[in-house]
Amino acid sequence: MAKKIAVIKGDGIGPEIVTEAVKVLDKVAEKYGHDFRYTELLMGGCSIDAYKEPLTDETIAVCQDSDAVLMGSIGGNTTTSPWYKLPAHLRPEAGLLKLRKSLGLFANLRPSVLYPELRDACPLREDISAKGFDMLIMRELTGGLYFGERKTEEVNGVMTAVDTLKYDENEIRRIAVKAFEVAMKRNKKVTSVDKANVLDSSRLWRKIVTEVAKDYPEVTLEHALVDSTAMQLVRNPSQFDVMVTENMFGDILSDEAAMVTGSLGMLPSASLNETKFGLYEPSGGSAPDIAGKNVANPIAAILSASMMLRYSFDYNEEADAVENAVKKVLAEGYRTADIMSEGCKQVMCDEMGSLIAERI
Ligand code: IPM
Ligand code: MN
Repeated sequence: MAKKIAVIKGDGIGPEIVTEAVKVLDKVAEKYGHDFRYTELLMGGCSIDAYKEPLTDETIAVCQDSDAVLMGSIGGNTTTSPWYKLPAHLRPEAGLLKLRKSLGLFANLRPSVLYPELRDACPLREDISAKGFDMLIMRELTGGLYFGERKTEEVNGVMTAVDTLKYDENEIRRIAVKAFEVAMKRNKKVTSVDKANVLDSSRLWRKIVTEVAKDYPEVTLEHALVDSTAMQLVRNPSQFDVMVTENMFGDILSDEAAMVTGSLGMLPSASLNETKFGLYEPSGGSAPDIAGKNVANPIAAILSASMMLRYSFDYNEEADAVENAVKKVLAEGYRTADIMSEGCKQVMCDEMGSLIAERI
């Protein structure tokens, strides 16, 4: 049966890396006899330029009518790009947040794996990287500080801005359930990250996650504070399996977890709702400084496509084939600039995509 895939290449390096992901998907379709139907859509800065808004209703409608969304990245340089002179609700990021909310994508899965071949690219001390790591951050994606009430106003002649971190128990419960379900398929450990020594929202978070844990007696639950977790991520990342946390903490910790693997360009993500539908995008950003130069690392986008095959289409064999092709190319010594180390062969973005596609 044909699969309808909405493709949002976006801004910055988005178009280059998504082109490579599509190249790999085409190879999967050819090899395994699938029919992928792509519809290209604009979102973010390119949509502002074309339609004067970062996300049109038409784009939302096409995504809703698709089986999955494959995305690159959105946004530009926040100090120099004219997009950031616009009111906040018309900037590129507002489009992505609205899309996540309209599609109900509350669970953001960000796996972070240190590939043995990339140990040299890992910025941590060798005795730490030698242990390797394989963790998954389960980031809550449609609540918390990102979606709470916010305003900027003058109070008694003083400019004042406020953002609100709000969660209800149902929002916490559904993301906790996702985390425990995933942990059951992995190493059966969940670290719930909060700031319960200060925040009410975190104290409720801890209480609900503890309740959910009772349904998963095989899974070990531990609670950790977000500041301490940031520290542990560079001190001993191998201790983590599944980490579940609220939106903003997850945003910050997932960049850190990505970087300890060696590069932001390696890590995919899946954003899911209660159904099989999902939006798949690299964890890293649009990297405007290297956009259009064919030097970006397409692996995060390619692995995002592989997560789409696995989570939305149940094509597990095909997803394995993509992941193995990535490992093979790395084992053969091919590297993009961001993960380059001595003795390896440096290749451009499009070459990396072709090398991976050829190995499927
Ligand atoms: C991410 C990004 C987004 C976020 C931005 C672009 C709004 O940083 O997906 O991590 O903060 O969620
Ligand atoms: Mn982020």
